Amino acid sequence: MAWGIPQDKIEEVRGATDIVDLISGYLSLKRRGKNYFGLCPFHQEKTPSFAVNPEKGIYHCFGCGAGGNVFSFLMEHEKISFPEAVRLLAQRSHIELPPERKPDEGSKENDILFPVNEMAAQFFQQELKKHPRVQAYLEGRGYSGEIVETFRIGYSPPGWDNLLNFAAKQGIKTRLLLRLGLAVQKEGSDRVYDRFRERLMFPILNLSGRVAGFGGRNLAEGEDIPKYLNSPESSIYQKGSLLYGLYHNRDGIRREEMALIVEGYTDLLCLVQYGIGNAVATLGTALTERQALLLKRYTSRVGLVFDADSAGAEAALRGGEVLVTQGLGVFVVTLPQGEDPDSFLVSKGEKAFRKRIEKPPPLLDFMIQTHKARGGLNDVHQKSETIRSMLSWIGRVRDGVKRNLILKELSEKVGLAEDVLASAMGKMRTRISLPEGVRGSPEAGVVFPPQHSAERDLVKVLIREEGLRKFIFRYIKVRDFQNPLLKEIARWILKEVKAGRAFTPVQLMDGMPAQGVSRFIAALESDPSFPAVEGRKLARDYIIKIKTARIEEQIEDVRQAIREAEQQGQDVSPLNRQFDELETLKKKIVSGSLFRD
Ligand code: UTP
Ligand code: MN
Repeated sequence: MAWGIPQDKIEEVRGATDIVDLISGYLSLKRRGKNYFGLCPFHQEKTPSFAVNPEKGIYHCFGCGAGGNVFSFLMEHEKISFPEAVRLLAQRSHIELPPERKPDEGSKENDILFPVNEMAAQFFQQELKKHPRVQAYLEGRGYSGEIVETFRIGYSPPGWDNLLNFAAKQGIKTRLLLRLGLAVQKEGSDRVYDRFRERLMFPILNLSGRVAGFGGRNLAEGEDIPKYLNSPESSIYQKGSLLYGLYHNRDGIRREEMALIVEGYTDLLCLVQYGIGNAVATLGTALTERQALLLKRYTSRVGLVFDADSAGAEAALRGGEVLVTQGLGVFVVTLPQGEDPDSFLVSKGEKAFRKRIEKPPPLLDFMIQTHKARGGLNDVHQKSETIRSMLSWIGRVRDGVKRNLILKELSEKVGLAEDVLASAMGKMRTRISLPEGVRGSPEAGVVFPPQHSAERDLVKVLIREEGLRKFIFRYIKVRDFQNPLLKEIARWILKEVKAGRAFTPVQLMDGMPAQGVSRFIAALESDPSFPAVEGRKLARDYIIKIKTARIEEQIEDVRQAIREAEQQGQDVSPLNRQFDELETLKKKIVSGSLFRD
């Protein structure tokens, strides 16, 4: 019984969760031999090095070292604790778990924040059902009841404390509402009130389908009220890392092999209403590199859908650069001035829209057209400025092949030799930097210092070779391990051995909260070069190395003590005796004669 969830329940949840199916929700996987490969969600990469092994029930990234089982995947992706990950997966498989206990030291803040947003989403959904006027508004805009249900659209009623009261009745602390921006505190006073009032509420879901935040469209009359209010940044809501509609449309995006990017929540919903299920919406800000990478997990082509006015074109140009430099093929779908996808579909119909998305021009063509229309290609001076501005982003395209293809096309379109463009680009010394937030974290790969390599390898044998565990613990104590992570694993294994329990490496991952443990074990399980041939002989060698290192430290301590005693004129004979004993013991260890079996 761990964390209030019985072991057999944990096993039931594990058994009910297909790791390939689970992870496929977060990125596209392709089968290669026994494994499935995809672009790692935990670091930035161009070619897939993230492997999922369904037989063993683990994933492992050969690039950044991320790794673990179904539970660690969610823990790492959502930054939640182990029990919370078990609960999520139990829900997914409709398995009942005992009621939640009070959060303990192992809990993470996100364990509590997600459920608070969930409570709020349910409240807003309930309120919508109580307000026929708002339902009529939605109907008037053409959204079916089904869409309203699927996207969990809700309503925050007028008033200052509706959500606050609802939350209080459920024992939810106001502090949490404040943290998520569901409530606000008046500056310089302790008055707290609901942040979203009289708004249509759009929950923004993350890739696990959990409510990360909200967008709220104003429905009240009056001046000076912002049309949209969005959740403020928090540990679960980062607008630069989320896309509205991605959770529901990711399969559509895979199917169509293209993602359409629109600006508004309502645009996305309208597209779905018209049967176009491969769009996402940005959250009221410019596209980020993280969003580009998110899309890249599902498709390599995106179509930016923008209004033809100059602001729309500007947004398309900026967004296009971000997407192209991350290696996506970008196309631009333009709509008549003043139209957004929603209004266009309503006034011109589905056919007209489909025609526009059928063969949209590539970004490069769109750019040249736009520059031409603005007079940017009129004379030599302007032309060179325009070309330079384009070279600056082309130089940032990570993929060398793509970069050169784009350059070739530009050369044809502007009538300038490729090598001239290439050398101009080279002189601009464009720096290729990693996007923020996706740098491999320092503890990414589990790398042990060389002096701990014997400990590391002994732990590997402990994990791999059930039959050798008792043998090893006969000669090695937990305190012999110097590396904290390895010591923790050794302690856990010893506990299981003493209790007479058998365990698999995948179960071992659950046992320990430290992220490093999962990574270490997943890497071990993915390493075909560690078959532990002659495991017993290997184990002996590692034991000898570890024990030798420990005894040498002790000998060094005694030597130091002798030196100090001599300086102070004290009797050193007891210390000398100790020294000799240790030296004898060391010889025994090094020669291997301490082994009785
Ligand atoms: P729009 O003003 O075009 O609204 O903003 P809309 O989505 O078409 O909504 P309807 O059709 O008028 O109901 C487009 C997007 O820009 C962001 C929102 O994400 C919105 O969906 N936005 C807009 C804000 O974040 N804040 C604002 O004040 C306005
Ligand atoms: Mn609109």
